[in-house]
Amino acid sequence: MDTKLLTTADSDLRIAADILKQGGNVIFPTETVYGLGADAMNGEAVKKIFEAKGRPADNPLIVHISSVDMLDGIVENITESAKQLMDKFWPGPMTMILQKCKNVPYETTGGLETVAVRMPKSAVARRLIEYAGIPVAAPSANLSGRPSPTTARHCIEDMLGRVEAIIEGDDCEVGVESTVLDLSGDTPVLLRPGMVTLEQLKEVLGKVETVTAADTDKPKSPGLKYRHYAPKAELYILSGSVEEVKRFVSDKAKERKTGMLVFDEFPKFDGVQAISLGSIEKPTEAAQRLFGALRRLDELEVDLIYAPEISENGEWRAVRNRLYRAAAERIIDLSNPVSFEQNKKKVLFVCTGNTCRSPMAEALFNSMARAEGVNAVSKSAGICAGGTASKNSVAVMNEVGIDIEGRAAVQLESKLVEWADLILTMSASHKMTIDNVFAAEDKTKTLAEYSGVGGDVADPYGADTEVYRSCREQIHEMIKRAILRIGGR
Ligand code: TXA
Ligand code: MG
Repeated sequence: MDTKLLTTADSDLRIAADILKQGGNVIFPTETVYGLGADAMNGEAVKKIFEAKGRPADNPLIVHISSVDMLDGIVENITESAKQLMDKFWPGPMTMILQKCKNVPYETTGGLETVAVRMPKSAVARRLIEYAGIPVAAPSANLSGRPSPTTARHCIEDMLGRVEAIIEGDDCEVGVESTVLDLSGDTPVLLRPGMVTLEQLKEVLGKVETVTAADTDKPKSPGLKYRHYAPKAELYILSGSVEEVKRFVSDKAKERKTGMLVFDEFPKFDGVQAISLGSIEKPTEAAQRLFGALRRLDELEVDLIYAPEISENGEWRAVRNRLYRAAAERIIDLSNPVSFEQNKKKVLFVCTGNTCRSPMAEALFNSMARAEGVNAVSKSAGICAGGTASKNSVAVMNEVGIDIEGRAAVQLESKLVEWADLILTMSASHKMTIDNVFAAEDKTKTLAEYSGVGGDVADPYGADTEVYRSCREQIHEMIKRAILRIGGR
């Protein structure tokens, strides 16, 4: 698709408004982050948003309006609390969840009976909506899983060729997404902290509940269950004094390319790519810079990113929420820095030759553990190993974006058996061999047994890619469950 690049001039906003009216997608600036918009009342148009972003379809969208009148036909009943909040915080970075009207399509609400609504403060956003004359459903305009875009350049990086138009406006002033407040139940629930703070909401509403990571099992807000804002490098939060942090990070930087989010007041860190979030006194500055900083660290191609602890007070709560989720809640306590490494679960996959099944399992496991933020790592070996990863394994792993080309087979030895906390075999016969030769019954299971998905993983050796592909899919499904089990979820 050819993506039109538009300015914020009136004539260009009219072009963008026409695209929206005709059921197309347009990326536009708001004061929080850039949004990827479509006609909220047109299910087919909304579907294109999910396709463009690669977003799971059960994650509902926020409906943006340019005047309160537009709520007619979107929300069923504007409660007294909702009215008070609108008066105080609209236009602005606050989203409310209310009962939806019948004609709001389920594509927009992710199948829910409630709908999220917000009137942005950005004049460009409101003009666009006004010209289109329709409510605009818009998630953040990033590829799913990437940090939200806060500049036009971020949008171009992620979405060029995937949407009909991008309006190149100014950098976003707020920098983190709106506060999301659920007003559909008896007590208001803060689902996502933002620059309209919990303290400010309590001032208006009295009682406001919050959700914690533990609630994400059955999330009130479907968006909470997906990992977000993730940079490519491993990100850890460091808990400790500035001196402890400095010592720890300088040490790590000797081994791997290391990036660090810092505040202006921090001392200089040697050998580290440090990106400042501004002054430690200014949460709004940190919010404005955070996503850009995470993207910048990706560009610098660091392997590790460390970030300082952040408080939960006032506007810091939103910064902390985004940063800790990007870190998948991995916090290293520097008073006991080895514990994190020691707690890392070590998994060994075993098959016959270590050229097909177990190398695929190892690579899938490591990639998924990282994406899910599960503190685990895997290796693989063969009972009778030789050669390198087979041609068809390499091909079907490439299809899921993982490169195992040239990986040399590893022979199973007692050293590896000792290394592992858990050994997962592709078939029952591999398990039997390990039990007999290494006496490691306690920690050895078949992958099928451990994941609760029945059946051995048959050897695809010598078969065509179709067989390898279904073997990969079988292993993938099993490993998904194994990772949830290891992560205690
Ligand atoms: O600042 C913002 O809110 C930006 C700009 C573009 O306005 N938009 C944004 O949208 O961040 P998005 O889709 O990335 O986040 C919307 C969040 C998700 O976590 C979603 O699960 C939640 O709001 N949400 C939307 N409708 C909901 C509903 N009916 N019930 C519960 N949660 C809902
Ligand atoms: Mg988002």
